[in-house]
Amino acid sequence: MKNIYSNIFSFNKKILHKSITSLKKGNVVGLPTETVYGLAGNAYSKKAIKKIYNLKRRPKKNPLIVHYFNYKDADKDVILNADFYKLYKRFCPGPITFVLRKKNKSKIQSSVTAKLNTVAIRFPSHSTTRSVLKKLNFPLAMPSANLSSGISPVKALDVSEEFKKKIKLIINGGNSKIGIESTVVSLIGKPKILRPGIIGAKTINKSLKLSIIKRFSKIRSPGMLKRHYSPGIPVIMNQKSNDKKTALITFGKKYKYKKNCFNLSKNSDLKEAASNLYKTFRKIKKKGFKKIYVVKIPNKGPGIAINDRLRRASY
Ligand code: TXA
Ligand code: MG
Repeated sequence: MKNIYSNIFSFNKKILHKSITSLKKGNVVGLPTETVYGLAGNAYSKKAIKKIYNLKRRPKKNPLIVHYFNYKDADKDVILNADFYKLYKRFCPGPITFVLRKKNKSKIQSSVTAKLNTVAIRFPSHSTTRSVLKKLNFPLAMPSANLSSGISPVKALDVSEEFKKKIKLIINGGNSKIGIESTVVSLIGKPKILRPGIIGAKTINKSLKLSIIKRFSKIRSPGMLKRHYSPGIPVIMNQKSNDKKTALITFGKKYKYKKNCFNLSKNSDLKEAASNLYKTFRKIKKKGFKKIYVVKIPNKGPGIAINDRLRRASY
């Protein structure tokens, strides 16, 4: 057991220095963010990006998000537009990702963007990762720190279990507060949501008008696989009860005392439910259940992002 966990370190000056040295050499580091944990590497380094794709066993056509300390850093690589500034002012640093056009002189590796002429950029708010970003003279490509198509990690231990000794350094930043991945918004042409998240369409619409796109339409993110966020056992949505071998993920007061039930939020709080979703998947899997049923989750606010993840997990 010890070997699995000996790559987790608490954040301090020494570890900050160590992670920076490591990233400069083109190595990867597990970093906490407010959404989920990421597997970080230098977005300008071919070597680092290759490592990320290999470690995650990620299809080459699925581009990575590039993380910056602030918009001034992003301005070197990406064409920032008026819609971007509106949303940046309101939500950043925070759980939102913007797809924008890449500048010709950008140093971002073409493998990061899967050869597209667009880049997804994000400004995470977690203080640890901000300290790292502040010290670097390159941005960090950082997908969620899980094997491709699995569930995103929400604590350092999840990352360690996922990659074992293949990663040398994971910084422990506690539990990811939001617990699901950032909202991805394309700001090329008419703004549209490519991946729902905790910042919902209604909230974004207060700053700018989003155009509606059909679910599973082709303009969604290239890497938005239909099957994704999978705990590795069948997940079935919109259920009412379970049998002995099946775990039931519930929501709200009604389900308080039932057996083999895992309540995402007894107070029917959808934000709390989102933060508990991946944690609950992992818990259920560790307990050895072979199947997961999920009760109907209200499809509003954060519930939209939860249902998006559940749909993909059950595909
Ligand atoms: O919360 C998050 O966004 C986390 C943390 C670690 O920052 N990261 C994350 O990365 O979820 P990843 O690689 O698991 O998901 C990136 C998503 C994919 O769906 C990908 O297709 C989309 O962003 N994406 C990346 N570049 C894109 C681009 N140029 N155009 C459209 N979608 C893009
Ligand atoms: Mg991911």
